[in-house]
Amino acid sequence: MKRPEDAPDAAAGPEKTGIGEARVGAGRVLCRLDDIEDGQGKGFTLGRGPEAREIFVVREGARVFGYVNSCPHLGTPLDWQSDRFILDDSGLIMCATHGALFQIADGFCVDGPCVGQNLEPAPVVIDGDGRVRLVED
Ligand code: FES
Repeated sequence: MKRPEDAPDAAAGPEKTGIGEARVGAGRVLCRLDDIEDGQGKGFTLGRGPEAREIFVVREGARVFGYVNSCPHLGTPLDWQSDRFILDDSGLIMCATHGALFQIADGFCVDGPCVGQNLEPAPVVIDGDGRVRLVED
């Protein structure tokens, strides 16, 4: 897991939204868009110790979608290797534990033991400088 860049920044430009709506210029920088291979994901650890929270971001072209890295079935992380969240050529997020499949754009489970449930969103945006930002309340 990668720790996000420590760069609170109020000077971001226009943003493209992933899931959820975002405030322009808001949010912690996670990485650059180019750091995520198109069609793949990247995991991040937010915070430290018992307060740490795992999230991941999936890239589809110039769009990004963020989720908490916890399967709605049993709460286990979804990645089976570091930054491996996508089932090859399927365009779906796959849980490593029992193989549940989730749509990238909305985190909806389309197959597996938690079908009909959703991943918890971790809304992200791309700022005008090509950085992926976590939108925090
Ligand atoms: S823990 Fe994810 S499908 Fe069972």
